[in-house]
Amino acid sequence: MAKTRARFRCTHCEAVALRWLGRCPECREWDTLVEADEAPADPGGPLAELGLRRGRAGAAAVPIAAVAGAGAAPSPTGVTELDRVLDGGLVPGSVTLVGGPPGIGKSTLLLQVAAGLADRGARCLLVSGEESASQVHRRAVRLGAAVEGIDLLAETSLPATLATVGAAEPGVLLVDSVQTLVDPDLPGAAGSVSQVRGCAQRLVDVAKALDLAVVMTGHVTKEGELAGPRSLEHVVDTVVSFEGDRQHGLRFVRAVKHRFGGAGELGLLEMRGDGLLPVPDASGLFLTDRRPGSPGSVVAPVLEGGRPLLVEVQALVTDEGSAPMPRRSGQGVDGGRLSMLVAVLGARCRVSLGRRDTFVSVAGGMRVAEPGLDLAVALALAGSLAERPVDERTVAVGEVGLGGEVRRVSQASRRLSEAGRLGFDRAIVPEGTPAVAGIEVIPVADLASAMAAAALR
Ligand code: TYD
Ligand code: MG
Repeated sequence: MAKTRARFRCTHCEAVALRWLGRCPECREWDTLVEADEAPADPGGPLAELGLRRGRAGAAAVPIAAVAGAGAAPSPTGVTELDRVLDGGLVPGSVTLVGGPPGIGKSTLLLQVAAGLADRGARCLLVSGEESASQVHRRAVRLGAAVEGIDLLAETSLPATLATVGAAEPGVLLVDSVQTLVDPDLPGAAGSVSQVRGCAQRLVDVAKALDLAVVMTGHVTKEGELAGPRSLEHVVDTVVSFEGDRQHGLRFVRAVKHRFGGAGELGLLEMRGDGLLPVPDASGLFLTDRRPGSPGSVVAPVLEGGRPLLVEVQALVTDEGSAPMPRRSGQGVDGGRLSMLVAVLGARCRVSLGRRDTFVSVAGGMRVAEPGLDLAVALALAGSLAERPVDERTVAVGEVGLGGEVRRVSQASRRLSEAGRLGFDRAIVPEGTPAVAGIEVIPVADLASAMAAAALR
């Protein structure tokens, strides 16, 4: 007996699909697919079971090299740091989700993107469900974004939004935010999983059908999850994460997923009184508040999204406490890596943190995901414990293994050149790292040698 699986049937033409779609693939009617678990009305064997019909003319497949529009070029948004993350800009017919916590600057970014695109001749429709038209206008004036070519619609209804899109035929649709959109035909309140997913799917279908570029913002929780469904990431073409420390002006833009280019590129912006501005010298900015000579501070040349950056790692190890479980807290560093480095320091270097609370942070609110930061974190911890500073013109880079060995990192020369540019003249590096003009490299095989090179033991 054939196994029954969940399927969806079009209430208009009875076509069957194996997943829910905003638009029926057969008759092209919107929102007609409903879940149907019972057997199909016209049992037609295994093909019908799969939603296929023998002898029906399907859409013609075309040779891959001859696909029209395959080379659609991205249009720059004018926000250069975002364009770098998007590999050039927005692609027609694509849907981009900008996710970030409340207050980070998503609405500001969206307005600046609209202004940049309008400036290049695109017709933009900005739909705001979060703020009134006058609020958006006020902000736009402040940002210099109250320009020709941007139409504003304060609306939360998806059908009303789509009606305006149909009438105005914009080239770019900007939605702030996807969580405020409501489709009365879908179950649930605004922001619920079914609404957010259903509305996003409709926007994706419309974008593809009209070759419309869509950018929508979405709130994420503190943990980085999209409030509403995580599955939105599968629906859209591009997911840009927008983060930063609200205390600091620095903002980081990353492509978490990007169908039209590489993911992982990093963009750096600064939130100023007149909007988000590109950061020309990120390394310099990260190091501005540094207090050289303080124990527990080590600078590392890391590689983020293909660009070398100098970041300051700070560690603070408290006096021995009595709590059975001391705190190991990391900001901007991976918690698992931090625990590992604490363990390696104890086991391989006889530097035991015991019941001391341990705090590590990357200054400037930056989150570093690459293992090249390991050596700086370990030296910062050891330095704080020993209450000895590391020479202020020395940087350290290297991945630390469980055996305490220091491993090579990629693109070491670019990292060291960046350090040289900012006035550093000494680098503690893994063995085999090539020399760079103006920098004295001190190759180390393991963490214990690195501690000796940094004069921490
Ligand atoms: P906003 O774009 O509203 O964030 P989101 O849409 O992600 O919630 O902006 C967040 C904050 O940025 C806001 O509290 C004020 C500040 N801000 C500036 O500092 N400079 C500016 O030019 C603008 C527009 C906002
Ligand atoms: Mg907002």
